[in-house]
Amino acid sequence: VTDIRAFSAAEAESHLPALVSLLRVTVDDGASIGFLPPLSHQDAAAYWREVLPGVADGGRVLIGAVEDGRLLGCVQLALEGRPNARHRAEIQKLMVLPQARGRGLGAALMVAADDAARTAGRTLLVLDTRAGDTAEGLYRRLGWTEAGRIPGFALNAEGGADATVLFYRELPPAG
Ligand SMILES: CC(C)(COP(=O)(O)OP(=O)(O)OC[C@H]1O[C@@H](n2cnc3c(N)ncnc32)[C@H](O)[C@@H]1OP(=O)(O)O)[C@@H](O)C(=O)NCCC(=O)NCCS
Repeated sequence: VTDIRAFSAAEAESHLPALVSLLRVTVDDGASIGFLPPLSHQDAAAYWREVLPGVADGGRVLIGAVEDGRLLGCVQLALEGRPNARHRAEIQKLMVLPQARGRGLGAALMVAADDAARTAGRTLLVLDTRAGDTAEGLYRRLGWTEAGRIPGFALNAEGGADATVLFYRELPPAG
């Protein structure tokens, strides 16, 4: 049984080594999630160290998929704090360990992110993803709407730059 839920700050801290490893494996496997391979332990750890305070202060929701105590995947919901954006949140860094992919965990994490957004009173979600990646198809299947495409948005490991697709999703208000 896979447990998919929002981590408390203490849980996030306890999963820190696994989060570092998940980010490194995912980047080194070729994902376009902000970093280029090879991602050092130090840089991955520094990233999560910046994320954790947001989990503690409620500005960010970190959802993990855990099976037998092992972290298999995660996704984040960044809750916008600006006065004109308090109905909005951004999905960041959906990732699943390569050996756990294709079992529906990515989709389940995204459904959990929807629930967390509703709970936080957010009604508009946004994200961007590299054009052509598995994730693009996943978001379409889950009902996200394409807002547009930006060519050459993100540098890649081959020395080129890839297009990104911007998506949004409207959530009916809870209740
Ligand atoms: C995107 C990602 C999180 C999906 O995770 P997942 O647990 O494999 O997701 P699911 O199993 O719910 O769906 C994966 C899709 O790939 C297909 N698939 C089948 N076998 C697969 C396999 N062995 N590996 C990967 N995908 C597979 C699934 O059928 C599904 O396609 P569908 O959406 O058209 O039905 C994962 O591929 C990943 O970590 N990618 C790298 C990070 C990344 O690009 N994140 C997105 C940032 S915006």
